[in-house]
Amino acid sequence: MPKSPLDITLQRESETPIYRQLIQQIRGQIESGALPAGARLPASRSLARQLDISRISIVNAYNELRGAGYLSAHAGRGTFVSHAGRGAFVSRDPGPAPTAQLPPPANRQRAASIRGMMRLARKPGVIDFSSGSPPSEFFPVRYLQDAINQVIERDGADALSYEVAEGYLPLRGAVRDYVRAIGIHCRLEDVLITGGAQQAIDLVLQSLMSPGETLLTADPTYLGIIDIAQARRVHIHGIPIDQDGIRIDALENALQDLRPRLIYVMPSYQNPTGHLMPMHRRRQLVRLAAQHRLPILEDEVYREFRFDGDELPPLKALDESDVVIHTNAFTKVLLPGIRIGYLIAGGPYYERLVRVKQAADISTSGLNQRTIHLLLERGVLAQQLERNRIELRRRRVAALTAAQRYFPPGSNWFSPQGGLYLWVELPPDGPSAAETFIAAIQRDAAFAIGGLFYTGAGGDHALRLNFGIHKPALIDEGFKRIGQAWSAEQSRVAKGLVF
Ligand SMILES: Cc1ncc(COP(=O)(O)O)c(C=O)c1O
Repeated sequence: MPKSPLDITLQRESETPIYRQLIQQIRGQIESGALPAGARLPASRSLARQLDISRISIVNAYNELRGAGYLSAHAGRGTFVSHAGRGAFVSRDPGPAPTAQLPPPANRQRAASIRGMMRLARKPGVIDFSSGSPPSEFFPVRYLQDAINQVIERDGADALSYEVAEGYLPLRGAVRDYVRAIGIHCRLEDVLITGGAQQAIDLVLQSLMSPGETLLTADPTYLGIIDIAQARRVHIHGIPIDQDGIRIDALENALQDLRPRLIYVMPSYQNPTGHLMPMHRRRQLVRLAAQHRLPILEDEVYREFRFDGDELPPLKALDESDVVIHTNAFTKVLLPGIRIGYLIAGGPYYERLVRVKQAADISTSGLNQRTIHLLLERGVLAQQLERNRIELRRRRVAALTAAQRYFPPGSNWFSPQGGLYLWVELPPDGPSAAETFIAAIQRDAAFAIGGLFYTGAGGDHALRLNFGIHKPALIDEGFKRIGQAWSAEQSRVAKGLVF
């Protein structure tokens, strides 16, 4: 069998992620004939060691080249250049990304690698705990269909014209009443309808921050805020958390040192850890922000997924100085694809937010806004919430039982009082989350790798598992496979085997 003369030179400072550089170079060598058909490529682990990069990058590159027909894998034997012949391939690789002015931080490379690897979770047949979606069997599809028909019958073409940027007035009224019930006393003029919470967050960053300014958040945090900060060229700085959420002492230091423009937090059932911020921490946070006249964006998209414990007021309900901007959506609790969310923001912020909203997309779909409004009027949300809570609570029990049964001794987690996620810390001296992921995918199970949710380094041994998305029997089977994956990886390392 021809030995692979693989010759790789990596540019670590390049904007192009390492795994993409690998793809480009291996593909180039196959196309030029330097790597002949049948040549065996080095095992991912030994190549990672040789190049001094993460094994994830190599697994990603090999996987993508396999998908494109350049390589084939044979269980137990290795990875080979395909016999399809030179020039038979259609290039799917978009080529090098444009060169950035500044070298990207190392963690961007790492994040790109992890993301590339997470694509493997989309393979059909995988028991996938990696997504952020509520279970699709909860979606009130029939009610939606009925409501859309009713809206079109009732409003005709009006339902399909441009809507005003602030949002469909009756829906804004319904949102005002909805948040009033949780202690937010706002005016109609403070309610802005958005394309989900994701757009709400983006609008806040765009209207309150300029490129190069600093945003503070918890570490770990919601992946979407890391993406938005990157897209808007805003520095994001992670503050460590404890069991009550973002640490106030560390936050105070960062306020002095970094002069941030915004704090982003998720007080209820934080993504990814599931932490609920208790009352005293909520008060401390709002007081600190008021003292510094620093706006807080609170993201409450998991608020309604409460299984036990008391209902706590959102930060906006404790805010007497108009420093808190509140966002929530009808996505997680009703229908993610309908893309309706909202912002509650006081006078000083509101006008700017509306201008940015108008520039972004003129307005959120009027038909979807009217449909959601009708669903609210018909009591579908209230009914849905009750059902969600009962079922998600059952799935949480299944997840805790399965974690206890299958995850390795020395792992840590706590029972979340709400939300969709279980955050598990694997033993720090065993296989990492990324290594476990690779072994789990081979057993058709997947989770979100903890490192994804950190603004810098961290989370190497952490997993986020969306237990809400599967029924108890699948939770049990999926967790079992992940536990087995960890054990297999652990014993392979212990035996000194390299694949
Ligand atoms: C904390 C958090 N905020 C916002 C979003 C985005 O929500 P939406 O679908 O409403 O845009 C998500 C989705 O996963 C989330 O986890």
